[in-house]
Amino acid sequence: MLRGSYAIVAIKQDEPGKLLFARNKSPLIIGLKDEENFIASDIPAFLKETNKAVILENGDYGYITENSYEIRNLKGSADRKVQEINWDAEAAEKEGYDYFALKEINEIPRTTEDTMKSLEDLTPVAEEIRKYSRIMFTACGTSYHAALYGKYLFNSIGIRTEAVIGSEFASVKIGKDDLVIAISQSGETADTLSAVEKAKKEGAKILSISNVLGSSLEREADFSIHTLAGPEIAVIATKTFSAQMLNLYLLYKMIKGERPETGLEKMQRKVLELEPDIRKIAEKIQEKENAYFIGRGLGYPLAMEGALKLKEISYMHAEGMPAGELKHGTLSLIEKGTPVIVPLLPEMYDKTISNMEEVKARGGLIFALSWEGDEKVGNVASEVLRVPKTGNEEYPLLYILILQLLAYHVTVLRGLSPDKPRNLAKCVTVE
Ligand code: AGP
Repeated sequence: MLRGSYAIVAIKQDEPGKLLFARNKSPLIIGLKDEENFIASDIPAFLKETNKAVILENGDYGYITENSYEIRNLKGSADRKVQEINWDAEAAEKEGYDYFALKEINEIPRTTEDTMKSLEDLTPVAEEIRKYSRIMFTACGTSYHAALYGKYLFNSIGIRTEAVIGSEFASVKIGKDDLVIAISQSGETADTLSAVEKAKKEGAKILSISNVLGSSLEREADFSIHTLAGPEIAVIATKTFSAQMLNLYLLYKMIKGERPETGLEKMQRKVLELEPDIRKIAEKIQEKENAYFIGRGLGYPLAMEGALKLKEISYMHAEGMPAGELKHGTLSLIEKGTPVIVPLLPEMYDKTISNMEEVKARGGLIFALSWEGDEKVGNVASEVLRVPKTGNEEYPLLYILILQLLAYHVTVLRGLSPDKPRNLAKCVTVE
């Protein structure tokens, strides 16, 4: 009699040793250990106890006891494999960090290193992408910002690419020659899954980019990229976002026939050393009511993400937008002391500088993200955070650490928890 999406676990009063379950469109996973079994909505919940998991599918129901389990399915057989999860249990612990968010930001260079080591896994995907006449990205929230980054990269090499927010996908016309790339850290976001369902009905092929093995999204997709960020516990997406961008960057480089920049993880480690300077900027921002993030080209998705990260955990009102849009309305909100954060890039550099001048003329406080050796920015920005010099496409992979650390420190300075923002869930399984 149940409809919609659910994951239910129940105990019968007269059989307390038996946990009954049912799932549809919401995650539910069984963990198996000798003389002890588990059931949870996510793997990290039992990872300390066991890495053997059975990922349940839509329509599955059954029971577990301490030493047995049975799975049936509403539509027929339910022969589910036992999978070995290769996340280590420590990855789901704080390991001395005050918050998971900080630990996870610090894990970005390691994720980059692991991704670079398994570069060949992306070769067949890059070849597949070339076959389609149009690429349609779909995703929500932070993952949508990764999609925007991918869109800019792919468009720059002549691939027709669009990025559509999952919940807006219903109004888009999809064709058989389209490849839909659905990005979702959890692989369980209802809006993204329903976009995929529609795309499949209309004949498109699906490529998924997800961080959770066996997620609903991965199962719906024709091809999958599994990001190697390991479990992400904080509600905010940090290392998984960086891993999504990195995979898109690597695909772009492969399609273009170029080698990716080497030493990205080393540069990211250098960026982490900027943390004391980032905290000083956070001290200046934390008492403000509003903050604006502006960028051009690949700086635009970053501006959007910087604002989302800040508002979702610090509860400060923040807006991200293309730098050129500022003068079309938002400039009227800039007054003395309004913080404006600018991820500056070599592309459209002079135009972005002139947008910064517009802000400066109104008394705005400009915090710029730039690179070693960029002199001009110092004349217009109040403060500059400099990363190692690299290429236009690579700066976002460095700047993102600064934006995440900035949101983190503003939040902690405001006495809030960056791991558990109010009203938000890690996995949004409602439309
Ligand atoms: C990220 O910090 C947010 N909490 C949120 O925007 C998230 O990115 C969004 O809900 C999409 O989640 P997904 O990647 O698991 O699909």
